[in-house]
Amino acid sequence: MCGIVGYIGNRTAYQIIIKGLQRLEYRGYDSAGIALYDDEVRLYKCKGKVRDLERLTTGHPIGGTVGIGHTRWATHGVPNDINAHPHRSKNGKFVIVHNGIIENFAHLKNELTNRGYTFESETDTEVLANLIESIYLENKVSVEVAVRIALSKVIGAYGLVVFSADEPDMVIGARKGSPLVVGIGEGEYFLASDVTPIVEYTDKIVYLKDEEIAVIRRDNFKLTNIRNDSMTPDITSVDVKIDNIDKGGYDHFMQKEIHEQPMSITDTFRGRVMPDKNTIHLGGISDVLPKLVTAKRIIIVACGTSYHAGLVGEYLIEEFARIPVEVEYASEFRYRNPIISSDDVIIAISQSGETADTLAAIRMAKEQGALILGICNVAGSSISRETNAGVYTHAGPEIGVASTKAFTSQVMVLTMMAFLLGRKRNIILPEQYRALIQELVHVPGYIEQILSHEEEIRNIAAKYKDATNAIYLGRGYLYPVALEGALKLKEISYIHAEGYPAAEMKHGPIALIDQNMPVFVLATRDKYYEKVVNNIQEVKARSGKVIAIVTEGDTTIRRMADDVIEVPTTPEALMPLLTVIPLQIISYHVALMRGCNVDQPRNLAKSVTVE
Ligand code: F6R
Repeated sequence: MCGIVGYIGNRTAYQIIIKGLQRLEYRGYDSAGIALYDDEVRLYKCKGKVRDLERLTTGHPIGGTVGIGHTRWATHGVPNDINAHPHRSKNGKFVIVHNGIIENFAHLKNELTNRGYTFESETDTEVLANLIESIYLENKVSVEVAVRIALSKVIGAYGLVVFSADEPDMVIGARKGSPLVVGIGEGEYFLASDVTPIVEYTDKIVYLKDEEIAVIRRDNFKLTNIRNDSMTPDITSVDVKIDNIDKGGYDHFMQKEIHEQPMSITDTFRGRVMPDKNTIHLGGISDVLPKLVTAKRIIIVACGTSYHAGLVGEYLIEEFARIPVEVEYASEFRYRNPIISSDDVIIAISQSGETADTLAAIRMAKEQGALILGICNVAGSSISRETNAGVYTHAGPEIGVASTKAFTSQVMVLTMMAFLLGRKRNIILPEQYRALIQELVHVPGYIEQILSHEEEIRNIAAKYKDATNAIYLGRGYLYPVALEGALKLKEISYIHAEGYPAAEMKHGPIALIDQNMPVFVLATRDKYYEKVVNNIQEVKARSGKVIAIVTEGDTTIRRMADDVIEVPTTPEALMPLLTVIPLQIISYHVALMRGCNVDQPRNLAKSVTVE
């Protein structure tokens, strides 16, 4: 949610910041802005994307070796030129970019208004810029002290970078609740919401912790906390290849990420699943495994697509390990006063590791003594740091706003976990364990096979591109896949789509079915097969259009359905990993054919770091 880039060094800041903002555009893209210092502060900002900002700056001075930039996902105030960041304080002393929400902004704004401040924008960020300035001017303190005092008055979340026209050889970064990282180069420093704008220049990264303030000059970097205690920066070396954050020859990140899945899933189980030894080893949770094996209950908390992965996890863990599992939307769980005991294990699933509700849910559960595990993709993210232990998905950077490869990697982690727990609890016997492991490692090859049929799947997508509604049905392991398929379609093509457990269709949704309603049915050969075949007949009897995802060689459903997409045969527990792929491809192509921006769907942002 909002991307921040800052630079101080000896190169021209403009190019570094613009390129960085392009890399961060997945976090928000309703407006963009940049502030540079070159004898004076030059501020350019506009509604729209980073390319609109580039157009705006054409022909204007863009020199200077210090600067900050922002790409926005609106919270306070509609997306327009005025609400775009950076924000400048009334007397022009400070410019600031900010991600997060200042919850007491109305109170602070009142106080400032009473002291003569006026505001151009509707944002909480402009209030913060003026708060810093008022402290600076009225208390006659240094820039650094003014920032520190202002932040101590703020309630809410921030990742921010600020600099002052009075001390332009210094930038200050701070975080509380919203991520901010510092990249350390030779005589230059980079600040950003995540490492993607930085890895091109340096692999030395400091992930700021909550309430830390980084005061950065070209030749030094000082880290303190908000009380001005000196902190030791924890310098991590990151290994993100530039190819991972480029489109790599694909038209869109989403397409690239769909196609990466054979590899990303392999990366998820590499070194963890040993088919030659018939073992699964999850190093990140090995210390806490005894507690997990004896857990009375597992509660999975997540949002969006990660929540759907969690639902697959529920089916897997309950079937193979016989441990009761509950899956909760983090946003509900954190506020509903849930009963949590020290016998519970909480698993937070999050691609970004920054989702505000998921983070708050684990903080709350931690206070109540539960063991907290994480399944995250982004190394060093807030959730990964605040959990007691966890398993990284290693899916590589996911840039497309609609989650694809993160989902399959999350499901893969949950599958490994369920099999491992099942074996440790002696519910899975050695022979079955061996068979499951052998099958697991075939999944990437099966996904390759499905991807090789993209053209046929695209032709099916073309038939339904003008639909206004769609229904997705699945049972058992494939019910969460139905939810995920519907989410993918609605978020990038803006077609209204709903997923249901197939048997629930008769309890209401069937009323929607007519000749204009495409119904995507997950109908692979599993224990529900006959029942799902009946559901297909019920849809056909009401003239609905059925697009069925079936196991290869299925002739029964081929005779009934309007369109059929085959997936290879595998045990039903592994079917979510295969059946979601055609649904991702359909959504991608439908969105493209409708002229939608698949990588940057309207109103969305990749990482939801505000409530
Ligand atoms: C959907 C999507 C979102 C995220 C959700 C959670 O395609 O991307 O629904 O899954 O915002 O995000 P993470 O996994 O980063 O916590």
